[in-house]
Amino acid sequence: MTAYDRAYGAWQADPEGWWEKAAEGLDWIKRWDTVFDPNLGAYGQWFAGGELNTCYNCIDRHVAGGRGDQAALIWDSPMTGQLRTFTYRDLQTRVAKVAGALANLGVTKGDRVILYMPMVPEAAIGMLACARLGAVHSVVFGGFAAAELATRIADAKPKVIVSASCGLEPGRIVKYKPLLDAAIGLSSHKPDSCLILQREQSPCELTPGRDHDFLAAEAAAAPHDCVPVKATDPLYVLYTSGTTGRPKGVVRDNGGHAVALWNSMKMLYGVDAGDTYWAASDVGWVVGHSYIVYAPLLRGCTSVMYEGKPVGTPDAGAFWRVIAQHKVKVLVTAPTAMRAIKQQDPDGKFLAQYDLSSLEALYLAGERCDPPTAVWAQEILKKPVVDHWWQTETGWAITSGFREFGLFPFLPGSGGRPCPGYDLHALDDDGNVLPRGTSGNLSVRLPLPPGCGPTLWQNDEGYRTSYLSDFPGWYRTGDAGMVDENGDVWVMGRTDDIINVAGHRLSTGSMEEVLASHRDVAECAVIGAKDELKGQTPIGLVVLKSGVNRPEAEISAELVALIRERIGPVASFRDARVVPRLPKTRSGKILRAVIRRIADGETVATPPTIEDPMTLDEVGQVLRR
Ligand code: COA
Ligand code: AMP
Repeated sequence: MTAYDRAYGAWQADPEGWWEKAAEGLDWIKRWDTVFDPNLGAYGQWFAGGELNTCYNCIDRHVAGGRGDQAALIWDSPMTGQLRTFTYRDLQTRVAKVAGALANLGVTKGDRVILYMPMVPEAAIGMLACARLGAVHSVVFGGFAAAELATRIADAKPKVIVSASCGLEPGRIVKYKPLLDAAIGLSSHKPDSCLILQREQSPCELTPGRDHDFLAAEAAAAPHDCVPVKATDPLYVLYTSGTTGRPKGVVRDNGGHAVALWNSMKMLYGVDAGDTYWAASDVGWVVGHSYIVYAPLLRGCTSVMYEGKPVGTPDAGAFWRVIAQHKVKVLVTAPTAMRAIKQQDPDGKFLAQYDLSSLEALYLAGERCDPPTAVWAQEILKKPVVDHWWQTETGWAITSGFREFGLFPFLPGSGGRPCPGYDLHALDDDGNVLPRGTSGNLSVRLPLPPGCGPTLWQNDEGYRTSYLSDFPGWYRTGDAGMVDENGDVWVMGRTDDIINVAGHRLSTGSMEEVLASHRDVAECAVIGAKDELKGQTPIGLVVLKSGVNRPEAEISAELVALIRERIGPVASFRDARVVPRLPKTRSGKILRAVIRRIADGETVATPPTIEDPMTLDEVGQVLRR
């Protein structure tokens, strides 16, 4: 029996005792009444009756415990040429003052604050300041357009929005202020005020009466103490793509989240207080929430926050430079970042210029890592490469390798084995557990472990219908795959319309809604086709209204611009093609999966349900153009 089997078995034998032991690692203001109360929420809630403050556990207790002078956050920004280190004490001072500034704007426990920020330290500081006040933050990724921000403002109804004058992308300054103003204009809800961080690369005009300068407000504020919150109170809402145009606001609680993340640092990544850890992601995504901000700080680590890209800032050695310079022990990133480096530096010539002796492992997440990339990374790094599978909804890994128990043998293409806390199985479409080795709907037997989103923001019913009602007693992940005879899990792709573009989660359904709103489009389908760099990229196929005879190139350019304007550059939507008809079943359903396979170059047998087999040839011709 392996150490993993023993740990997993110990959790199975006594799930509540197992998590209770983990919870002892944190500082509680009031101990929980019950470890798990099955009568609360959609399927129960963790640490009911307990009280704590997440910011206190991330910062103040480390200062009190003697880590005040240790680096908490290293901000490394090749985009600006700047490097700044914040000790735990520095972070405490800044977060307490920013919490004071938010309180001066009327923010109190339970109020929502939206952060629309680039990768600057003030993004993490703003998140932690909200946690300090017991306010609920909602970070919106900077690559989303004004309309996407507007839907989140309308849903979260923030009292304050924290933003910056600009973000920096290679070769381009992204001016946030016009996007923010447009979003507030579009939204039915208006915030009382905005806190704007002026960046010297492109300062902006502040709107009188509404906007306040971030640093001036921080300087003028008195430090604010940590406010006790219930373990079951929300810490944040993070919107993610759902199967319709309306994004889902995944709620994260305070207690379960802190316990799960604190525990994961050692169990999964094998790092502890004092170690340097780097999640090369963005605070706008769940990986950034959990592993740039909360987990490393909860554990007393030094977290690296990187404003740059894997390539081009300045070259394909950027990641290796950061690891060597800050003595990073574990790096977490998306496979697409490795593919970008591999494309530009297949032989690892840049890597040879750096001392990577501090690095002990590379973890990958956000999309399935294709085996050639995993093998390449392991060969050039000569360190373990661990693919781990998770989702915005879960907040931490469902399956992984575990450095605390000894890593499993390298198995490229597999996402590892279930983390203690998850009873994972593949189910058939009727909800029956499939034998090992058979693919189906990957699902977790309820309850979900601590850290997983207990509901959707003000939408309990949406939570039930999205995740719980298809297979009663189970959480449906929306991913297809199998658990093999050895217990290794293979995640093969989504069962819905979600695609992963460069590790960014997007809904093809919401892109279809945008295309369908174009005046010349009668109907459309968007599919995610295989892409060498980004894993998948969207392709739009449109059927024009009869009588429209404008040039295809003109309409296509308009459609590309429309998606960029409504969803944002992050959609990477660059390909819209006109087709005479779309392949459908006799009941009128568009055969998107079939179109996707044709786009990926597969030979597809004509489905028996198809209305008109000819359309497959027509679509194939357009896709092969
Ligand atoms: N703000 C504004 N725009 C942004 C943005 C942000 N925070 N992030 C991305 N964009 C823009 C990019 O500038 C690009 O715009 P363009 O169409 O004008 O070129 C567009 O969105 C698409 O971005 P992306 O898909 O990221 O492609 P890229 O070509 O800029 O970079 C990679 C490719 C692989 C280098 C990059 O995607 C990467 O580093 N990926 C890592 C992904 C990651 O961290 N995922 C998080 C989950 S772990
Ligand atoms: P997000 O919510 O943005 O983290 O995206 C979650 C989705 O990304 C999952 O449901 C999977 O489809 C996919 N995903 C994330 N990590 C992995 C992985 N390691 N292997 C396979 N798919 C993954």
